[in-house]
Amino acid sequence: MNILFIADIFGKPGRNIIKQRVKPLISSYDIDVCIANCENAASGKGITEKIAEDLFDAGVDVLTGGNHLWDRKEVYDYLAIENRILKPANYPLKSIGNRYFIKTCSDGHKLAIITLTGQAFMNTGDSPFNILDELLPELKKETKCVFVDFHAESTAEKRAFGFYFDGRVSAVIGTHTHIQTADEEILPLGTAYMTDAGMTGPHNSVIGVIKEIAISKFLTGMPKKFEVADQGLQLNGIYIKLNPVNGKAVQLERIRAKI
Ligand SMILES: [Fe+2]
Ligand SMILES: [Fe+2]
Repeated sequence: MNILFIADIFGKPGRNIIKQRVKPLISSYDIDVCIANCENAASGKGITEKIAEDLFDAGVDVLTGGNHLWDRKEVYDYLAIENRILKPANYPLKSIGNRYFIKTCSDGHKLAIITLTGQAFMNTGDSPFNILDELLPELKKETKCVFVDFHAESTAEKRAFGFYFDGRVSAVIGTHTHIQTADEEILPLGTAYMTDAGMTGPHNSVIGVIKEIAISKFLTGMPKKFEVADQGLQLNGIYIKLNPVNGKAVQLERIRAKI
C-alpha cells in the first residue's frame, strides 16, 4: 500500500502547489491513499468547504486537521457532515468533526487515518497516548494499517509517542511545527516515523507568515495581523510503503520539493 502524506498546506500558495503537483506525484509513486494536513489551508488559519472540495478534486483523499481546524466558523456545518476531514481525536467529544476515517483502496485493502494533538506547549484536552490506546482496538477491527498524523510541538513528546506505538500502528508522522525534520526511519517494530513532515507553502517566511510581520511582533510584543508569505515555495511530505497484510512499513522517502 502506497501512502503520500503532505504536510500542512499553508494558504493560497500551498493550495496552488497541491493543484499543480499532487496528481503527478500520485501517478509517479502509484499512490493508493493521499493524505494532507489542512489546518492552515485558508489564509494560514483553518479550512473552508470550498477549499476542502478543491483539495479533494486535486487528488487528496483525506484531510487531517490540527489546533487551527476550527478557525473559520463558516466551516462548522461542513465539518459536521464531511467525514474525510479529521479533527484531533483527543479533543473533547463535543467538538465538531470526525475522529478517524477508514479509506478503502482500489485493491480492497483498508487504511485507518487518525490525527491527535500533543499536550506539551499546546492547549488541548486529553492525553493523545491514552486516547489512541482506547481507539486502537476499534480501528484494528477494520484494518492492521493505521496512519497517525501526530500534531505536536515538542520533539520529545513526538519521539515518545512514536516509540510507544511502535509496532501497533503503521506510521506516526509529525506535523504542526512547519519545519521538516530529517529523521525519517522505520522504528524497530515496523512503524514509519518522522518528527515533522514540514509545510507545503512559502518557506521564505516564519512558518508561513511574512517574515517582517513576525519579526516586528517579536520586537514590539504588540499584536500584528499575520499575512501569508508567497516566496520560497516547497512541497513537504513523505511517501510510505506499507505491507497491507501486517500493516508494517517497508519503505520511506522524505519529500522536500522546491517549486
Ligand atoms: Fe500547521
Ligand atoms: Fe498546528
